[in-house]
Amino acid sequence: MIKPHGSSELNPLFVYDSGHRHALVAEAEGLPSLLLNSAAAANAVMLGGGYFNPLKGFMNLADALSVAERMYTTDGLFFPVPILNLSAETGVEAGSRIALRDPGMEGNPVLAIMEVEAVEAVSEEQINFMVEKIFRTRDENHPGVATFTGLGRSLLSGPIQVLNFSYFQADFPDTFRTAVEIRNEIAERGWRKVVAFQTRNPMHRAHEELCRMAMNDLGADGILIHMLLGKLKPGDIPADVRDATIRKMVELYFPANTVMVTGYGFDMLYAGPREAVLHAVFRQNCGCSHLIVGRDHAGVGEYYGGFDAQAIFDEEVPEGALELEIFPADHTAYSKKLDKVVMMKDAPDHQKSDFVLLSGTAVREMLSRGVAPPPEFSRPEVAKILSDYYQSIGPAPE
Ligand code: ADX
Repeated sequence: MIKPHGSSELNPLFVYDSGHRHALVAEAEGLPSLLLNSAAAANAVMLGGGYFNPLKGFMNLADALSVAERMYTTDGLFFPVPILNLSAETGVEAGSRIALRDPGMEGNPVLAIMEVEAVEAVSEEQINFMVEKIFRTRDENHPGVATFTGLGRSLLSGPIQVLNFSYFQADFPDTFRTAVEIRNEIAERGWRKVVAFQTRNPMHRAHEELCRMAMNDLGADGILIHMLLGKLKPGDIPADVRDATIRKMVELYFPANTVMVTGYGFDMLYAGPREAVLHAVFRQNCGCSHLIVGRDHAGVGEYYGGFDAQAIFDEEVPEGALELEIFPADHTAYSKKLDKVVMMKDAPDHQKSDFVLLSGTAVREMLSRGVAPPPEFSRPEVAKILSDYYQSIGPAPE
């Protein structure tokens, strides 16, 4: 199987030994504590599950700046996005051992224990530099930029030991998986070539067909549909609804034992190209050999070109930095002429009007009225689940 990123074995930061873990939970009650923000908590969950292998904890300022600038830590580890615990002034001192409390759970239980190696003030200039590099914009209307700039200016770095997986395990018991579990399941199934499909949306015909095309073109043994379960921007569809639509589609339209439906606990960054590379790193850690990167992968609004998230792999990811390869997908849609879903590059004689193309807003509007989008766009069983959801939340605000 493909090696994890940066090490020969996966080293998750969750404390698997239950005796040791219980001792740490007891110790944590007596430690000074810090209430994390959602972004830092999601980072801890990802570190716990082995997704951010081989990192041992939160990055310091020198690594954060270096990763933002050139996707390498100061020690020469390839990593696409700084993994940070940024907060407001905390009073925490370097050298202390602290309990990190979970903002996502009732009562803020301890999520992890941290050895604080450094506490550094981050200047406005340094924040702006990182934002520009990670998001390619400093526009505060970009949801990822707004979140990042609001995280605080005090950076705590150092190794962590993770004690649970926050709300993800309780809320999504059938779907949330660690990278360790996914790697193990891939090995048990005997899959060698595995394609990952990243998603934060319900899957329509184009997405379903993209998975099938990647499987067939690559001769893969299976596909990992891997959905984001953390925070999204307002208006995005909640994880339980997306999960239900994806499971229905897989059950009805894919052969048994060819698809794993799973999810990971991370908040969406909307960082387009840089997030696509992060997606590649953590799918390699899951044991996947390929990642589908299609149109406007991890993008939002008009901030990124449709295929910038593919170009970064050719233009900025150095040869050999990753073992996983991407499966680049062109804009995919249903062709009325050919009566099937195709990549547009494979139908050069087509006009735009030869495809069934619907905007997200148009689809949402139809579903809210209980009208199913055409079956060429959406499987009726998927449309039904979405329509029930939209009708349950009432009309969109003006
Ligand atoms: S993402 O933010 O998680 O990337 P989404 O769930 O919408 O968003 O997309 C999942 C994957 O499908 C991404 O790789 C995206 O580029 C790709 N994709 C979505 N729609 C299309 C499409 N019509 N044509 C080609 N690729 C697409």
